[in-house]
Amino acid sequence: MRAAAFTDLIGPDGVSVINQSEPDPGPDEAVVDVEASAINRHDLWILEGDSAMVDAADLPFVTGLDVAGVVSETGDEVRGVEPGDRVVLCPNETCGACRFCSEGPENTCERFSLYHGGLAERARVQADRLIVLPDEVDTTAAAALPTAYMTAYHMLRRADVGPGDLVFVPGATGGVGVATIQLADLLGARTIGTSSSETKLERVQELGLDHAIQTTNVDEIQDAVADIGDPDAVINHLGGEYTKLGQHVLARGGTMVICGRTAGNESTIDVTNLFLGHKRVVGSTMGTQDDLRRLVELTASGELSPEIDRTFALEETGDAFATMQDRESVGKLVVQP
Ligand SMILES: NC(=O)c1ccc[n+]([C@@H]2O[C@H](COP(=O)([O-])OP(=O)(O)OC[C@H]3O[C@@H](n4cnc5c(N)ncnc54)[C@H](OP(=O)(O)O)[C@@H]3O)[C@@H](O)[C@H]2O)c1
Ligand SMILES: [Zn+2]
Repeated sequence: MRAAAFTDLIGPDGVSVINQSEPDPGPDEAVVDVEASAINRHDLWILEGDSAMVDAADLPFVTGLDVAGVVSETGDEVRGVEPGDRVVLCPNETCGACRFCSEGPENTCERFSLYHGGLAERARVQADRLIVLPDEVDTTAAAALPTAYMTAYHMLRRADVGPGDLVFVPGATGGVGVATIQLADLLGARTIGTSSSETKLERVQELGLDHAIQTTNVDEIQDAVADIGDPDAVINHLGGEYTKLGQHVLARGGTMVICGRTAGNESTIDVTNLFLGHKRVVGSTMGTQDDLRRLVELTASGELSPEIDRTFALEETGDAFATMQDRESVGKLVVQP
């Protein structure tokens, strides 16, 4: 079978289509004929050589966390899915044995890791991580959901966002950013989002963004947010200088949830502002399989329509990563093997 593999960790030019042996499922595994696999910034870190997870010794490396397609084969012990089922994969991998697995939520597992392998014609996966799709949800929409929407949804839950809240999303145009805007809107919250691009912000406003701030200058953003109000929650996937900014603009008693570091891994905290303002800063990674199940239901009911900027054939996977690297898209980029 064909797979789009990272053969060199030099950015988008390091992606090639290779031939791999056909997957053979273990007793509790299934093989999925992959119809759609969304890419994420996590994959781009790997491709740019900026992840400790993969180095030259691991090449060729096939990434692809977000898998949707049709089950073609199942192992002897598999119950719950069967060949012919249309499915989406929850890419969480947990040990099932640690204290965090037993107390939950599952994404706090101390041996937590992620599935990789969706950028291929077929994927061998843990069968109990599959969710059967209702007829109303096509596989391209389903592939957009796992990493970006599940992470965004879990962060909004961690911040207890509800009706009437004001939510600030620095970087509101990418996978996690757009997902946060759409889901906060569904929860009845008002949103403030930033981007370097006016055109991209216009699209996100059509998707529910209430207040758009077009600049990457954090001082200008801070003033613009202050003119709108004090956010009850900051959903921060950019990290870097947006962390200090997020902490400053938070309302008294507000919560900033952080899941990423696109703008850098370091920031400073104004300690006095933090304790006098009774603010919370929370780290969060991915979400739960139940979060994903709810997102599938919201998509089936038509309340949520995952935003997909463009789809790509398997041999165009390098172009998909170039589009992400060049910051040219709104929402998700999906490869259709
Ligand atoms: N911990 C977790 O479980 C988890 C899960 C998912 C994602 N993440 C992290 O969340 C982040 C977002 O992931 P994603 O897949 O949504 O990425 P993405 O789609 O590439 O995000 C694009 C967004 O990031 C902004 N951006 C890109 N480079 C920037 C820079 N140098 N400075 C400021 N803004 C920048 C873009 O702004 P413009 O509109 O100005 O171009 C756009 O709004 C990544 O750091 C990722 O690793 C973490
Ligand atoms: Zn565990």
